[in-house]
Amino acid sequence: MKPGNHEHRIEPDPDIQPIGVEQGDPIPDPPALPGMVEAFDESESVLDRLASNLVVHALECVRRFGDFQLALSGGSTPMPLYQRLMIDPAYRRMPWRKTHLWIVDERRVPFDDDRSNFKHIKEIIGDHSDIPENQVHPIEATRDDAAESYEKTLQEVLGWREKGQDRLDFVLLGMGPDGHTASLFPNSRALDVDDRLVTLNDGPTVVPPDRVTMTYKLINASRMIVPLVMGKGKAEMIHRVATGDDGSHEIPIKGIKPIGGQLAWYLDTAACGKG
Ligand code: 6PG
Repeated sequence: MKPGNHEHRIEPDPDIQPIGVEQGDPIPDPPALPGMVEAFDESESVLDRLASNLVVHALECVRRFGDFQLALSGGSTPMPLYQRLMIDPAYRRMPWRKTHLWIVDERRVPFDDDRSNFKHIKEIIGDHSDIPENQVHPIEATRDDAAESYEKTLQEVLGWREKGQDRLDFVLLGMGPDGHTASLFPNSRALDVDDRLVTLNDGPTVVPPDRVTMTYKLINASRMIVPLVMGKGKAEMIHRVATGDDGSHEIPIKGIKPIGGQLAWYLDTAACGKG
């Protein structure tokens, strides 16, 4: 998984039809965030747009690589997206059988703890899609070697891909009001880890319990990085990301800079500070 200068985008496949769902009107003049910004009035439209693009990207990756490497975040914002993907017939083309499901970050609690991201993602997706069990990759967060062992699994699975393509295809991120993303919290030690794909994180700025998280190195090497940010509690931080000159230690999401891949933000009106 070596960063290189080559492009990781894949060209749209003309044989793959777009998903036909109603989508609302985009918000004019969304915040000037780095990368692409998709912003809609209604949170429903944000979720539909994101779900449609996710399914098409998944189909393109399966066509091109034979599988789709998807990493999902926890938190409350993306749960309705996961539900929509499972329930809405519009998304039944999602190639779950060819998908590997990864977890972006995890609290260091057992799987049956309500704070476990995997618990919720498994209940919504793992248990109700036809994704094969051996393609679902929880972080065994309570193990001492949780980070090393997850990194090893990532390398083993992605190692089947051709060199240069051995990367995650789609990483769904959230953002906290403090600007954290994944479990990369302001001024925390995980921000400086540049030689690992996964690491532990703790310290005064890390909202307890301690965490295991994908690093910038892994996330930034991905083909598609997608922060989904909704609600007025996030508006001030979105404004700072778009206009301020803070660095990534103050605002960790500013350290998300794809190497050859694409960054696409999905926002609702409230997160844009409008409405
Ligand atoms: C987690 C996350 C974290 C999350 C943000 C936003 O496990 O909590 O991966 O980075 O995405 O804290 O969370 P909300 O969606 O709940 O606001």
